[in-house]
Amino acid sequence: MMNFTSVKDLTNINAWLKKALEIKANPFGFQEFGKNKTLGLIFLNPSLRTRLSTQKAALNLGMNVMVMNLGTEGWSIEMTDGTVMDQGSQEHIKEAAGVISQYCDIIGIRTFAELKNRDEDYSEKVLTKFIQSAKVPVVSLESATLHPLQSFADLITIEEQKKITRPKVVLSWAPHPRALPQAVANSFVEWMKQADVELVITNPVGFDLSPEFTDGVTVLHNQNEALAGANFVYAKNWSSYENYGQTAPNLTDWTISKPKMDLTNNGKFMHCLPVRRNVVVTDEVIDSGNSLVLEQANNRTYAAQTVLLKMLQNVG
Ligand code: CP
Repeated sequence: MMNFTSVKDLTNINAWLKKALEIKANPFGFQEFGKNKTLGLIFLNPSLRTRLSTQKAALNLGMNVMVMNLGTEGWSIEMTDGTVMDQGSQEHIKEAAGVISQYCDIIGIRTFAELKNRDEDYSEKVLTKFIQSAKVPVVSLESATLHPLQSFADLITIEEQKKITRPKVVLSWAPHPRALPQAVANSFVEWMKQADVELVITNPVGFDLSPEFTDGVTVLHNQNEALAGANFVYAKNWSSYENYGQTAPNLTDWTISKPKMDLTNNGKFMHCLPVRRNVVVTDEVIDSGNSLVLEQANNRTYAAQTVLLKMLQNVG
């Protein structure tokens, strides 16, 4: 059984990238694999892009799709084994995963970090428990520490848009009023380390990502220095890994603005969305011809379709 939870589940990233571009050119060309198969999408947290693009991907493959916002529509789920369930939770994740497995051939699940206990989040407690109890392959729709479908879409977008063989890609921290997980940033780093790019991360002191991800990558605390000559600027907020869950919304000089983009080599702007305008990025930048945010969102469909097709074919 093949699960998809990180770039580590791929045997050959370039082969997957090639397949994604092939699917994008012929999205309805693989329907024999999805016929009479059912995808279940389970959301414990909100979504726009992941929900719709993964549904579209499955429909393009001829699959049936069922979607449930388990976090708001289902019974309250118990995640811990051995609990005496005489309090708020009504259904254990073991039964929930086992039951959904009987209705579906592949299950997608979204579960965010709670940002309260770093060890618990980084153990991927919920995703791991769900996979342990599921009887069919599971695809991550974003987990506590990773967002592989987003990163795959970002890789496709960079491949389509790059003008040189090995572009400079800068992942820049940006301010945000709320504490956000590190998942998108961790995952982007993990995928870019396997891609043919020069990756630079820039973030304020105290906001370094886990060394598990940054090992071998240039990390600069001077954003202007990092942006110099960049071909792609990927903006994202994440809360502190070191001082787990802490934020710094007052660091407004980290907002991606036109003067910042002027430091780049006519760089393209990227963000996974949803984005807080004039906090993370100015209107001027996100509305410019160099913004790729809609292209990224569009490629979510082909990333998901490639992953689902590989799972249906059960090949790595
Ligand atoms: N980028 C992304 O995952 O968007 P949603 O949270 O809307 O799914």
